Amino acid sequence: MSSSGKEIKKEIKEETKKKILEIIAPWRGKKGGLIPILQGLQEVMGYVSEPAVKIVSDELKIPMSEIYSVATFYAQFHLTPRGRYIIRICRGTACHVRGSLKVMEAVKEQTGCPENGTTEDLRFSLEPVACLGACGLAPVMVVDGKTFGRAAPEGVSGILAQYV
Ligand code: FES
Repeated sequence: MSSSGKEIKKEIKEETKKKILEIIAPWRGKKGGLIPILQGLQEVMGYVSEPAVKIVSDELKIPMSEIYSVATFYAQFHLTPRGRYIIRICRGTACHVRGSLKVMEAVKEQTGCPENGTTEDLRFSLEPVACLGACGLAPVMVVDGKTFGRAAPEGVSGILAQYV
C-alpha cells in the first residue's frame, strides 16, 4: 500500500521532541530559520511530520499554514514517511528509449511500491526522476545513492535483494 493510505503518526516521542527543540533553539527570536529548521526535522525524522510542524509553530509562534507553505514549496521536503532506501529511476530520454519504463514496472511489481510512494513496511520509496547525467549507462536506476547502469527488468530482483 502507498504512504498516502497510511495513517500519519500524530504523536511524537519525548526524545524526538527534545531533538526538535534543539534544532529550533538557535533560531528563537531570529528570522530566516524556517528552511534550516525543516532540514533539521527531516534529518531527524526522515520527513516533516505534522506533530513536528506543530511544535515549531508553538515554539516560534509561526502559523502552521506558513510552515507548510514553505515545506510544500521546496521539493526537498517530504511530508509523509519515506522508505529506508530510495529507488530513483531515470525518466530522461536516453533511459526512456532504452527501456526505463520496464525497469520501473518490474520494481513496482516486486516491491508493491507505487511511483512517488513508499512501501507499507517503509523499506522502499520509489521516485521517477529526470536525467541523472549518466545517459551512457542508460537505463539508470539508483538505490540508496548507488548507481546501477544498464538496468534491466531481469536484474531488478538481484538489486533489490541487496537492500533489506
Ligand atoms: S536520460 Fe537517464 S541518465 Fe540521462
